[in-house]
Amino acid sequence: MTATDERQETDEKVVIFDTTLRDGEQAPGISLDAGEKLEIAEQLARLGVDCLEAGFPVASAGEFEAVQAIARRLEGPVVCGLSRTQLRDVDRCYEALKEAERARIHVFISTSPTHMEHMLKMTPDQVLSEVRQGVSRAAEHVDDVEFSPQDATRTPLEFMLEVLAAAVDSGATTLNIPDTVGYGIPWEFGDLISYVRAEVPGDYVISTHCHDDLGLAVANSLAGLRAGARQVEVCVNGIGERAGNAALEEVVMALAVRPDQFPGLRTRVRTEELAKTSRLVSRLTGYQLQWNKAVVGRNAFAHESGIHQHGVLAERSTYEIMEAAAVGQVGSQIVLGKHSGRHAFAESLEKLGLVVRGAALDAAFARFKELADRKVQLTDADLEAIVAEELGSSLEAGFVLESLEVRGGTTGVPRAAVVVSRDGRRFEATSDGDGMIDAACRAMKQATGINAELTGFNVSSVTGGIDALGDVVVQLDSAGLKVSGRGVSTDVVEASARAYLAAVNRVVRSRARRGEVAGVRRREPGP
Ligand code: KIV
Ligand code: ZN
Repeated sequence: MTATDERQETDEKVVIFDTTLRDGEQAPGISLDAGEKLEIAEQLARLGVDCLEAGFPVASAGEFEAVQAIARRLEGPVVCGLSRTQLRDVDRCYEALKEAERARIHVFISTSPTHMEHMLKMTPDQVLSEVRQGVSRAAEHVDDVEFSPQDATRTPLEFMLEVLAAAVDSGATTLNIPDTVGYGIPWEFGDLISYVRAEVPGDYVISTHCHDDLGLAVANSLAGLRAGARQVEVCVNGIGERAGNAALEEVVMALAVRPDQFPGLRTRVRTEELAKTSRLVSRLTGYQLQWNKAVVGRNAFAHESGIHQHGVLAERSTYEIMEAAAVGQVGSQIVLGKHSGRHAFAESLEKLGLVVRGAALDAAFARFKELADRKVQLTDADLEAIVAEELGSSLEAGFVLESLEVRGGTTGVPRAAVVVSRDGRRFEATSDGDGMIDAACRAMKQATGINAELTGFNVSSVTGGIDALGDVVVQLDSAGLKVSGRGVSTDVVEASARAYLAAVNRVVRSRARRGEVAGVRRREPGP
């Protein structure tokens, strides 16, 4: 037995209860159909969550069908459905779940004075009897019953203890403490969990369910775990009502990266599946991830400042606390921008096969900094161009725009005719398009014979007024070579054509440079 096996034998398991498909789906604007929910559920099973809340079956026929489909098809995790305390709700919930390998019914009712008075219009005694009724009915159907006193963090302690004790007496096996409105503060929430553990007798797992209204959902969940909770309720990408729920990937990685702070706790999550799960949820919910999102954001392993880049290139752990591959992300990315240093610049050139040293490197680096001040990020082709231009290589002649004629308007198909020349030869083409810009770019593609896909297009105006200059930047991808081009004109169609041609010329020059570049030794690829 290895040391890891031994540790895992004695470790206590933290139950990862994923509620992406229930609380996550309650986020404004999200509506998943049964097929989409099933796709996410299957990925969550691959990720290794222990329990998955598939929905609130009584909410609608569609929701019932989705929970039922997941219960029928999913292998692995416990499938859970949410229910109010009414008997009709509990029975309907069971009906949806009954074909699951393992089913859990999650019964909830509000317990805070404000919810009882304004929403439920019930007295505390009535709420207590609802708890007994709903939980007992759930326990007749399944032996895995969870109970939640909604708005627990704004519920007077004595009443909450009474409610929780009644739930355990009636058959609850998990007591979930929801911070429904994200009001808790980590040490206070931790104390609440310890208090419940100490004061409510019985055999149950205690759980956290934290919302992010103050940005503390993950911190509160971790405080709960430290205080004795052994289940955390989380959502992929932290989606959920209002500001969302505790993010699954953040809680899981906090436990994985800082075992010293959570001695003896482990999850079953296959962390390498995190990025893929996050992308799937983002795609199906339409909720885009912010670039700097912890763990799964596209910048989570990207380094731009010179000092950081130098450190990471020398030793990854200088500025990274986890490996990108461990969460399914691509490895450390060095992003070249105005904060980048010489080291990263030289390294990026080497990756392109350009070994530049000494004064040549100084000159190219100075030019790079100049350009980086004006452009957010520099592409591979930009780097090649800097090196070639700065070190005096003779540039391959590019295409020149000789003429452009476009026809548009509200009737008829937009059409463009272009004439370009290169090395004294003329090339002409005519094309239709979806609009005048599209027609001009298509004609340009035919005339130059450079096959490239337009991957980005941005137009802005340089100054105000009707004579403003249109400033167009296009991005092209030509067989994997990504280039950009810029064109400026008082006519945006002409500016677009010029930008397109500038990008095409970069492709032409980049290809021509495949041989020797003056002052630069091109390194042969290794075996
Ligand atoms: O936030 C909340 O209180 C809930 C309950 C239904 C657990 O989502
Ligand atoms: Zn919630």
